[in-house]
Amino acid sequence: MDASSSRRHLLEPRAGVEVARCGFAVGRTAPSGFGLSCRDAVDWLATLRAQSVDLLVTDPAYESLEKHRAVGTTTRLKHSKASSNDWFQIFPNARFPELFREAYRVLARNAHLYLFCDQETMFVAKPAAEASGFRFWKPLVWDKQTIGMGYHYRSRYELVLFFEKGKRRLLDRGIPDVIAVPRIRGGYPAEKPAAVADVLIRQSSEPGELVVDAFAGSGSTGVAAARLGRDFLGNDICAEAVAIAERRLLEAGARPDPSLQTAACSRHETGGPVGGCPR
Ligand SMILES: C[S@@+](CC[C@H](N)C(=O)[O-])C[C@H]1O[C@@H](n2cnc3c(N)ncnc32)[C@H](O)[C@@H]1O
Repeated sequence: MDASSSRRHLLEPRAGVEVARCGFAVGRTAPSGFGLSCRDAVDWLATLRAQSVDLLVTDPAYESLEKHRAVGTTTRLKHSKASSNDWFQIFPNARFPELFREAYRVLARNAHLYLFCDQETMFVAKPAAEASGFRFWKPLVWDKQTIGMGYHYRSRYELVLFFEKGKRRLLDRGIPDVIAVPRIRGGYPAEKPAAVADVLIRQSSEPGELVVDAFAGSGSTGVAAARLGRDFLGNDICAEAVAIAERRLLEAGARPDPSLQTAACSRHETGGPVGGCPR
């Protein structure tokens, strides 16, 4: 089977998805499907077929977080029981080249990648993504609307780097590059509001398409995808995160669909289809 024939999300109408004459899905009547895995992000992406993913929205645990923790300028990773160093593993900057190589390979010919990013890591991530073939458009700003902890200028925003593979039109070219959504308080460490992912998913995918997050955490990207009628494949190295994401996806009305993982995978996972942790 070649890469394009495996992309049933783009080529074949799925059960429950209405398809207009032009071939685009215009809505869906069936619940969105999802699959979750528990592995290293790069290893997991390597199991997916080339060009099998319609949109990547992801939020790695940056190396720079370690620095902030070391000097005590952030406490948000320390206050929950689930947020010790052991629990919240960091993704080293040195691994960005392999991450972007896999991201570029799995994305459809014309597709977008959104990477949540901080003001330090963007200088590492941008050239690494460009070296893999992505076109960098701009950083979007997530305006959290209230200041957080810290010093100097108190932090009120995070960045989302917007990359393109090939050429894909945004749905609405009247959307501003500042997305104002209140921060999440007391949630999963570094949890992003589903409302931010909502904007990105609407802009860069169609109902019935496949959205992927390789650092899914509590599953916010998946929740937004499910609410918008997209299918979702998520992954996180932490089994506890995967369990939280599974609960949130079920609450959002999505249904486990092992066929998604199988369709997107070039090798079979050794773990279970939902929340399975092969390690
Ligand atoms: C910033 S959090 C993601 C939060 C998520 N956006 C949310 O809203 O809940 C980053 C996640 O990356 C995971 N992680 C760290 N290193 C990883 C790796 N090598 N592969 C996969 N996941 C990893 C952590 O367990 C953590 O859940």
